[in-house]
Amino acid sequence: MDNMQNIQWFPGHMTKTRRAITRDLSLVDAVIEVLDARIPLSSRNPDIAALIGNTPSVILLNKCDMADPAATRRWVDALSGDRTAALAVNCKTGLGVDKLQPLLQRLLSDKLDGLRRKGMLNPSMRAMIVGIPNVGKSTFINRIAGRNKAKASDRPGVTRGNQWFTVSKGFEILDTPGVLWPKFDDPQVGERLAFTGAIKDNIMDIELLAVRLLDLLRVLRPTAFIERFRLSDEELMLSSYDLLSLIASRRGMLVRGGEADTERASAMLLDEFRSSKLGRITLELPS
Ligand code: G4P
Repeated sequence: MDNMQNIQWFPGHMTKTRRAITRDLSLVDAVIEVLDARIPLSSRNPDIAALIGNTPSVILLNKCDMADPAATRRWVDALSGDRTAALAVNCKTGLGVDKLQPLLQRLLSDKLDGLRRKGMLNPSMRAMIVGIPNVGKSTFINRIAGRNKAKASDRPGVTRGNQWFTVSKGFEILDTPGVLWPKFDDPQVGERLAFTGAIKDNIMDIELLAVRLLDLLRVLRPTAFIERFRLSDEELMLSSYDLLSLIASRRGMLVRGGEADTERASAMLLDEFRSSKLGRITLELPS
């Protein structure tokens, strides 16, 4: 995955985003961090925990419709703590999203009670959204806020480009335009983001990517994958490249001379993984 290592960070942008997040944190009570439930580690910006510090946060394990439900339950447990709650959601259908507001109310109960004691009748909760590209932030905002957008310019002290959305009376969310990058310098992270389609695969060797995905699938052995390609236990013991050739032949993907068209099979395999045809698969588990 040498190509992955060629993707460079933009240190200037990162510093700017970091500064913007730190500044925006002073405007909110909580952070909503969106992750991809299939790869909760690889889809997490490596600096985010340090940046958020003690601010209460809700981690949304989004795209849970494509992840293994048992693995997602383990992640919800592993990521939940005193100041952090985790929630499995499918922002495309809205599944689980209605649990967010009560969860935030619970996380912020001390603060909200304090404000009520001071005489504020309906103290509002403000949360900001963070997440690397493609985890589903826009889908989440559309789902939760619909068209209830408030113009950023309506509010004093708000960074240009930031957008406030009113979810309901007493609950507002801030979408930040700063791009948070994943941990690109770790080739494994790059691969996993590429498997899910978060990184375009035209920047890397597609056969190598498919072979690396098969390395994982051979170990995870998702039923839908095994049944789809009618793979026996012996066949699952083949090297990943030989397995790719077998899958190509089984699908009738041959080049002239009758050899397996592994390039076409690679594109097909990645496509089927991304559309969940190989099953609901989580590629990373909590340690
Ligand atoms: P971003 O703002 O964080 O960059 O992500 P965005 O909302 O644009 O979502 C990225 C892709 O993920 C979109 O697919 C979106 O539909 C999909 N997505 C978001 N949430 C979920 C979910 O819970 N489940 C599933 N299965 N998919 C989800 P796309 O192919 O880029 O666009 P589209 O063809 O769906 O419009």
